[in-house]
Amino acid sequence: MEREIKTTKDGSKTLYIKSLDESYHSVHGAFQEAEHVFIKNGINIINKNEINILELGFGTGLNVLVTINEYLKTNKYHVINYFSLEKYPISDTESSNLEYASLFSEQNLSEIEQKIHSVPWENLVEIVPNFYLKKIKCDFFDILNLELPPIDLVYFDCFGARVQPDLWEKPLLEMVCNKMSNNGLFTTYSSKGSVRRILEELDMKVEKKPGPPGKREMINAWKTNNFS
Ligand SMILES: C[S@@+](CC[C@H](N)C(=O)[O-])C[C@H]1O[C@@H](n2cnc3c(N)ncnc32)[C@H](O)[C@@H]1O
Repeated sequence: MEREIKTTKDGSKTLYIKSLDESYHSVHGAFQEAEHVFIKNGINIINKNEINILELGFGTGLNVLVTINEYLKTNKYHVINYFSLEKYPISDTESSNLEYASLFSEQNLSEIEQKIHSVPWENLVEIVPNFYLKKIKCDFFDILNLELPPIDLVYFDCFGARVQPDLWEKPLLEMVCNKMSNNGLFTTYSSKGSVRRILEELDMKVEKKPGPPGKREMINAWKTNNFS
């Protein structure tokens, strides 16, 4: 599918698929959305210093980069294992044209950005000391057959239900929740009522949080001990 680069309201770029009228991030600010949904309402509220993260899907790599930035900046987490699923990888030209490393003023992430794109798929690679990334080229529904450690934090960052409704229904959500550790956190930019209800049916403790710029609400859901 043909993709083009667009600049979002906070100045950061995203990819846009014209035929679907869908972008990889919020047009109100790609960088602000990633920081708000996956850092502030994601890794920052996990009470552990060794964390296994599962992302659906890798896309532009922006969420990996904001997570590495947080890891290096805070010095709070001892080990991070980051598993990221993606069926349709972007090209090298697309990733370099997004210029994401320039978004970070505190530290130079250019080499790290190149590394997260160039490391081979299916290998767990140490990107910076004690931050490991495994990019897995697969369909999200293959998650059932993946060998993953218990997941403490899920970044559910699929395209919206308007274009991929099956990704927001019970079969995939249940497979994802089954991969989570007790007290694990599922976070997504979506605030869809049907998604909240499915997560509740799966015994997740659902919280509505204020959303990123341009969005009123988003979902956090905690895996509770009585989940079977
Ligand atoms: C909203 S974008 C991801 C944004 C990404 N987290 C980022 O920071 O750029 C959704 C991603 O899911 C991928 N995708 C869509 N359907 C998929 C499927 N069935 N299995 C695996 N990946 C899929 C797309 O190629 C796209 O990269």
